[in-house]
Amino acid sequence: MKTDENKITIENVTKTYGKFKALNNINLEIKEGMFGLLGHNGAGKTTLMKLITALTEPTKGRIIINGFDTKKNKMEIKNIIGFLPQEFSVYPDLTAYEFLDYIAKLNNIRDKNKRSKLIESILNKVNLLHVRDKKIGGFSGGMKRRIGIAQAVIKDPKVLIVDEPTAGLDPEERIRFRTMLVELSQNKIVILSTHIVEDISASCEQIALLDRGTLSYTGTPINFVNKVEGKVWEICTESRKELIDIKNKYSIISMKQTQQGIRVRVLGENLKENSRIKKAVPNLEDGYIYFMENKKEVRKLFRNLFTVAGEEFNRIRKSFLFWVGVILVVFMPLIVNNPIQAGCLCTANSVAYYVFRTTCDLSVIPIVLFINYIFFYDDKTEMNSVIFTQPIESKSYVLGKFLAVFLMYLFLVFLKYVFSFLFLFILKQHRIHQFLF
Ligand SMILES: Nc1ncnc2c1ncn2[C@@H]1O[C@H](COP(=O)(O)OP(=O)(O)O)[C@@H](O)[C@H]1O
Ligand SMILES: [Mg+2]
Repeated sequence: MKTDENKITIENVTKTYGKFKALNNINLEIKEGMFGLLGHNGAGKTTLMKLITALTEPTKGRIIINGFDTKKNKMEIKNIIGFLPQEFSVYPDLTAYEFLDYIAKLNNIRDKNKRSKLIESILNKVNLLHVRDKKIGGFSGGMKRRIGIAQAVIKDPKVLIVDEPTAGLDPEERIRFRTMLVELSQNKIVILSTHIVEDISASCEQIALLDRGTLSYTGTPINFVNKVEGKVWEICTESRKELIDIKNKYSIISMKQTQQGIRVRVLGENLKENSRIKKAVPNLEDGYIYFMENKKEVRKLFRNLFTVAGEEFNRIRKSFLFWVGVILVVFMPLIVNNPIQAGCLCTANSVAYYVFRTTCDLSVIPIVLFINYIFFYDDKTEMNSVIFTQPIESKSYVLGKFLAVFLMYLFLVFLKYVFSFLFLFILKQHRIHQFLF
């Protein structure tokens, strides 16, 4: 089954902790090169990495690395994977050399000379050769991360996984660390997770955006940025008041104090260019904010829509009109038509039939009344003014009300058919479908 090409296939992977879904149906293919996994804290990055390293197992789905299943071939996976965990601390009393020597022995490198050469070359790569005999306990944050990378690459892994390696490093150390990862990524898959866009912008060929356990983007960074083309603007302002206006109207990406005033970078559609408003060339950071905001907006819109629909449905259910509607649709079929035009109490072409039939078809009446009840009532009573000053999109409100009416209509139609069939059944049982009118 083993192939030469390095490849990770993640198929329909779900991971739950109790009832909580930390990852929801993830599908992803990762090929050789640097892969950036981007997401807020709590998005599920560490969870995904622990699944790839076979430290934990998916609740559903499977992960195949170079032909090996992380559930069934744990030892093979350990042989090809190097991992630098997010919370990383090493034995402080060991020197850099002693620690790596220990790890090399665990990797079955028995020959002392071979081990020594390997460790020195790796210490050189991670720029720690000058402190090879110093105790790790005295290392800086950046140096500890580098020793972490060194232990992860001792086995020359096909897949190198580093979980938020730049967290807590100063800007200079971060840049150095990223450069080092790029150097190490030859003929390997390197997966780097981060919540800092800058970490992946220069180095990763492929990226994925994880948001609350679901993937909201996978692809190249260029395509990611293209999604915000034309939506990023820079507005120059000098007044604090205008700044507040801008903040209320648009999503602010960043602000910069300049000689002309404050330059605000925002996300927005269809702004008009003038001396103070200019279209900006988008970057990865803009894309990230756009994706996060956009999802938040859509989520909010739907959540509000269903809240309104639920509340209105409840309100209709308690109204007098609702019970009129129920009586109409329950008793109409008894008197007049039913879905298959038989078993009713009047002949198909009699006057009574037409009268009742028409009345029955007018079961739309309750619907019209409902619409009147929930919309025009609002207008008359100024309830509108109350509702529309709540922090909710008018779209969610109006659609929510329609959804409530529609659900109610479906419910009544359902009742109508249930009772039609029920009456038909009873009438047939008692052989009284010889018509009474
Ligand atoms: N062992 C666990 N038990 C219960 N919940 C967990 C466990 N590990 C992680 N979680 C939850 O899963 C979600 C994703 O966590 P994690 O993968 O650590 O996110 P990230 O690394 O992106 O910050 C979080 O809400 C976290 O609280
Ligand atoms: Mg994490």
